[in-house]
Amino acid sequence: MSGPVVGVFDSGFGGLTVLRALAERMPWARFVFLGDTARLPYGSKSQRTIARYAAESARFLVEKQGAGYLVIACNTASALALEAIEAAVAVPVLGVIEPGAEAAAKQTKTGDVMVIATEATVASHAYAAACQRRGLRGVEKACPLLVPLIEEGWTEHSVTEQVLRIYLDELLAEAAGAGQHPDTLVLGCTHYPLLRGMLERCVPEGVTVIDSAEATARRAAEAMQEEMSQRVGAESGNQPGICCFATDSVAKFERLGSRFLGHAVGEVELVDLGG
Ligand code: DGL
Repeated sequence: MSGPVVGVFDSGFGGLTVLRALAERMPWARFVFLGDTARLPYGSKSQRTIARYAAESARFLVEKQGAGYLVIACNTASALALEAIEAAVAVPVLGVIEPGAEAAAKQTKTGDVMVIATEATVASHAYAAACQRRGLRGVEKACPLLVPLIEEGWTEHSVTEQVLRIYLDELLAEAAGAGQHPDTLVLGCTHYPLLRGMLERCVPEGVTVIDSAEATARRAAEAMQEEMSQRVGAESGNQPGICCFATDSVAKFERLGSRFLGHAVGEVELVDLGG
């Protein structure tokens, strides 16, 4: 039987923002994080490829690392590969889309929500559908330049701010054209929380920024707290803590990962999941 191990998966480092929120809420759990950095970005790939990569990554965390729960800390994989992941592993799987939409529903007063995400996430309209199920209207905008800028560490750079303002202006114009009055902006990519300060400066007054990392961690903690705290101590060998794996340069992961996690990621192990 799987121990009290939570597997957290992202295409790269961005999901460490979700891991950070999870670890704050569940300090008693052991986390194994996989960043599929060799195959990043997922956001510009086809559904078929994303599903294959995500299922392989999920299998690694469950079959090789003993994860008993999986948090898909990647919006693109959550939007396009949740079913493939659920079919690949026999453990509960939580994605980031539903908690993000739920948090937006709690926050919005106008019922109009804006979402920024990768190209693949936007093309899937997973957020628009999740908003619609909650009686909300959503406009989505793909922001493909943001992930590379964040990976470059340009989180306070004037170029990034300029790019962000262009995307937001286009998104606001689209919402206005549809007769909407959005008061909520969902960060539909796990990289974007690193731009939170900049985003809060750039959005119009009265627009609240929603981080799906926080919303997901809250949901995961609620779902797992009882069962997992019961399991702690009942099983040996699973000390609380964080263990990170990456499919490409561990040096880069160790260097950049701390920005997302909020502290040093420790030693990162290289894994090969194939092509
Ligand atoms: N972490 C991914 C997400 O949340 C973005 C990076 C990528 O394109 O793989 O969608």
